[in-house]
Amino acid sequence: MSKVKFFNGESIPLEMHKVMIVQKLELPPIEKRLEYMQKAGNNTFLLNNRDVYMDMLTDSGVNAMSDQQQSAMLLADDSYAGSETFTRLTNKLTELFGTEYFLPAHQGRACENIIMQTFVKEGSIIPMNYHFTTTKAHIGLNGGRVEEIIIEEGTNVTSKHPFKGNMDTDKLQGLIDEHGKEKIAFVRMEAGTNLIGGQPFSLQNLKDIRKICDENGLMIVLDASLLTDNLYFIKEREEACKDMTIREITKEMMDLCDIIYFSARKLGFGRGGGISTSSKELYLEMRELVTLYEGFLTYGGMSVREMEALTVGLEESMDESIICQGPQFIEYMVNELEKAGVPVVTPAGGLGCHIDAMEFVSHIPQHEYPAGALAAALYIVSGVRGMERGTMSEQRDEDGNEVLSNMELLRLAMPRRVFTLSQVKYAIDRIIWLHGHRELIGGLRFTDEPKSLRFFFGELEAVSDWQEKLVEAFRKDFPDSL
Ligand code: F0G
Repeated sequence: MSKVKFFNGESIPLEMHKVMIVQKLELPPIEKRLEYMQKAGNNTFLLNNRDVYMDMLTDSGVNAMSDQQQSAMLLADDSYAGSETFTRLTNKLTELFGTEYFLPAHQGRACENIIMQTFVKEGSIIPMNYHFTTTKAHIGLNGGRVEEIIIEEGTNVTSKHPFKGNMDTDKLQGLIDEHGKEKIAFVRMEAGTNLIGGQPFSLQNLKDIRKICDENGLMIVLDASLLTDNLYFIKEREEACKDMTIREITKEMMDLCDIIYFSARKLGFGRGGGISTSSKELYLEMRELVTLYEGFLTYGGMSVREMEALTVGLEESMDESIICQGPQFIEYMVNELEKAGVPVVTPAGGLGCHIDAMEFVSHIPQHEYPAGALAAALYIVSGVRGMERGTMSEQRDEDGNEVLSNMELLRLAMPRRVFTLSQVKYAIDRIIWLHGHRELIGGLRFTDEPKSLRFFFGELEAVSDWQEKLVEAFRKDFPDSL
């Protein structure tokens, strides 16, 4: 384990790697950051990365590769069909997941396109612990409907529940009884449930779901994009699994699922994605769509170099001292913020640290986008870029009314093996300072509001001069600091 105790009793997560390649960062002064944020329409997606000190927007496609991954990339076998590289990747998945068949795809949502087109029909119902945005969109496109049946604790911001990503199995049975099993295309479980704060499900929960699915002839489809965080939490928090290796937990989990898909932008410190299954029949049903949408069956839109890096990255994902780094850094951040009275999602999950903007800036009404305003304010005072996960990420209804989100979160993702603890401490310090000056933060309003995906492209302005006042307050406390 990489958690060490200091002589003074403090417990900190210790990096189990050294940094061999570096990328220079800039921390522009606050006056510049105000300018950049306003130029980006107060939307963190529209900032230039060169103006960002810590990019905590996402952990997708930005995790650091190891020396082993980089060197494997040099050995890639570049061929359109029958590449050795593809064989190595498939064999690794067979070894770790026990699945014989693998369909490569260019990223996670491409896998969703293939799975949903194959199995979702008009009127299908897809029960799941919780949706992810791209998943829901693909299900909708194919005429299906998502039913979120997460346990009640799952959407409580603060909790001590170790597995907030669990599915409510009574509700699953209830859905089957109500609609009939024929209506249900499959049951989807998402590891490290993204939108509720990277929260895991337990192996026992998956076993209980398997039992119900077996009784009703239903498939389980696992979204394994955030698998490693979930594996780590199972080992840490599930009594029955504490003596199992990560490899054993992985194998047992995969044996319970019919189809496993993932974004390799998250899993395996890689890029790309893919679909694994032990069933030849399911493989054949999906195969053609890979060649139509992705590429030939032995690359699927990925470069051979990406595939080599992924093969090694998957092996590294079985090493507890490697996969603990993300969750332990996040836990450190969540604990320090909680100690300082900053409202955060608890218990600490994977993916990142999630700040509860509904509470942090409770004076900002939801139609002025509290989480978006907090994201803009945090960039201004720190150069840290997070992602709004609240009302701005929703879409207006058909009559143009705001759809208010039930959570207003600022997600600060923790790319794996990228930041040092001193950088994390810097982010914590500036968040605590901002919390002390939270009454200065005001709302935002759209100046350019696209009809769909407004959180990606939309531009907003501050409803008053609160951002200038925030800069003044910062300068009073930090006259010389960036
Ligand atoms: N499933 C989950 C659970 C995800 O978190 C993502 C992506 C996808 C599917 C789609 O994969 O991006 O490779 O097409 N999550 C990213 C994020 C975008 O920032 O959380 P993709």
